[in-house]
Parts: sequence; C-alpha cells; structure tokens
Amino acid sequence: MRWIGIETSCDESAVAVVEADGGGLRLLSSLVGSQIARHRPFGGVVPEVAVREHLRNLPRLAAAALREAGIGTEALDGIAVTQGPGLATSLLIGHAYARGLGLATGLPVRGINHLEGHLLSPFLGSGAGKEQEAAFPFLGLVVSGGHTLLVEARGWNDYRRLGGTVDDAAGEVFDKVARMLGLGYPGGPEIEKAAREGNSVAYDFPQAFPERADFRFSFSGLKTSVRYFLEKNPGRLGDRAFVADVAASFQRAVVAVLVRKTVDAARARGLRTVVAAGGVACNGALRQGLEGKAARGLFRLLLAPPALCTDNAAMIAGVAALKERAGAALPLPDDIDPNLPLAAA
Ligand code: KG4
Ligand code: ZN
Repeated sequence: MRWIGIETSCDESAVAVVEADGGGLRLLSSLVGSQIARHRPFGGVVPEVAVREHLRNLPRLAAAALREAGIGTEALDGIAVTQGPGLATSLLIGHAYARGLGLATGLPVRGINHLEGHLLSPFLGSGAGKEQEAAFPFLGLVVSGGHTLLVEARGWNDYRRLGGTVDDAAGEVFDKVARMLGLGYPGGPEIEKAAREGNSVAYDFPQAFPERADFRFSFSGLKTSVRYFLEKNPGRLGDRAFVADVAASFQRAVVAVLVRKTVDAARARGLRTVVAAGGVACNGALRQGLEGKAARGLFRLLLAPPALCTDNAAMIAGVAALKERAGAALPLPDDIDPNLPLAAA
C-alpha cells in the first residue's frame, strides 16, 4: 500500500510518499519546501505569506515527490493530509489540495493529526528498512514551536495527555530568547549553535513546576527572567562570549525541565519506552540528556531522526500507512480543525 502525505499546518509545505507491506514501511520520498527565508525578515511566521507559499509550492512538491518515488498517482492507494492542529489558513490549503487530488484520482483522502505524526515519527526510521513497529505502550515527548506535550500512548487512537505547557511552547521560547539575544530565526538552531561556545552554568535561570508528580510545563517565567537579566546588563549583546553564556544557560534550563519531567512521567506511569519528537527534539543537548537517562537503564529511547523532527509529510503519510496496516480507524476529514487535540486531558 502506498500513501502520499500532504502537510501544511504552519510554514513548511511538505509532500512525501511511503510504502507499507508485510516487510515494513519505507519512505520513498520526503520533500519539504522550507519557507524560513520568506518569514525571516518578520522574525516569525506571517500567515498570509505562508498561504501564498503553500499555494505555489504544493503542485511542484507533489510532482517531485512522485518522481523521486518513481511512481505515478495510479500506483497510490490513499492520500493523507494534516487535519490540525495548526494555522487555519495554512491547513485549508493542504486540505483543499488533498481533496482536489482525491477528486482527480478517485483515491481516498484521510485526515491525520499533526501531533500524532510527530508522536509516531520516531517509529518511521530515516529510510529503507529502518522502520520499527510502534511499540505500545510508550511515553511520548512532543516538543515543537507550537506544542510541549507528554503523552502516554497505549495503542492506536488511544493517547492520554499527561501534561503540557500552560503558556509558551518550548520551541517558541527558543525563538523568543534568540530574538532577545539578537540571534537569527528560527531560534532553536541558533541558540544551540551559540550555546556550543558558552558556559551552561554561567547563569541560573528558573525552572518551573519542579514537583515530581506535576507534568505541566511553563516557560514564560524563564523567558521573562532572561529579558530582565539582559535589561540589567545593557550593551552586552555585542559581546559574543556573553551571548554564548546566556544561550547555553538558557538551553540548560529548558533541557533540564524537559528531561526531568520525561523521566518522572515514565517512572510514574511505569513506561519502559520513551520517544521524543518535534522540532526541539533536534536539539543536541536534549538528545544527549535523554540518551544519558536511557544509558542508565531508565527506559529504551527512540529519537526521531533530525529530518523527521521538524515539520514534514513523511510522518503524515507514515501514520496513515501504519494505521491502515494495523486496521486502526482512519477518519475521512470533512473539515480542518486548528485546535484538534491529540488526546483529552
Ligand atoms: O516541529 P516544528 O518544525 O514545527 C512545529 O510544529 O512547531 O518545530 C519548530 C520549532 C521552532 O520553534 C524551532 O526553533 C525549534 O523547533 N527547533 C529547535 C531546534 N531546531 C528546531 N529548538 C532547539 N534546538 C534545535 N536544534
Ligand atoms: Zn509540528
């Protein structure tokens, strides 16, 4: 069975083709038309710019994804499209494109939750033959520009939200602090790069909700604390070593909270497999922090490969293929839902 996936929940237009059979799941192509350069002058995503880029990008990305997969639409079995959550206008473009492709080809169109895509991306592998079966039950840490979630995944469509952020998402706070430091957009990779030259214990920034059984996250206090600190140290943003120390100390605070709550949640729920995904899961310090816990035998760790951490369509097509193979429900999307939840609290 072959699925084409279409993802336009935010600012990346993405199309991918996957193939699933008894032997496993293979990514035949996965293309992302990055819009980062178009949004960079604004320091964040501008919805109208994103919509126009999606309109321009999708036809050529779909043609290229099929060409790279070496097949035509007649060799496909279904079309998977992101139903939500995300920016309404961006979601609508992908949805309309998928419905149009469905009408033109007669293929079924199925809606996939963007968060479920992230959650299961560690099971897709990075290429032919590297895939693994989704190992339920597991704990999922989904950390991106829009979300920070701890999820207990018990089976297909059986996801329980253990905790999430009460204010900013982890990626959002990376982006905002990068901006305060005069670093580029998106902020996550820029902070990580600056932090490599810095001292991560130079400054102590606050870590919220330290209680063991509390799986809520809050990053706005940390963000404000960095802002006040910079205000008290005026004129130092030109000092490369200072910026590197602040970036490294800030990153340490975010990573410490994410790792500690992941460990505590796995222990509290008795989960022996932990997966991490979403754009912030590209972060080397977070990956090392989680790997350190796995090396101590606390859990088996699966990290999404970096190319599948940030938004992509392989995770959308991949979830459709895995669910179909498992006989799990794949609903027809009548509509998009910008606030589509992954699971109830
Ligand atoms: O998953 P994603 O591409 O989009 C959303 O669904 O939000 O995540 C994008 C977020 C951005 O906030 C970006 O700064 C962050 O992921 N990010 C990182 C890194 N790479 C991307 N954060 C920390 N370290 C990184 N290396
Ligand atoms: Zn995402």
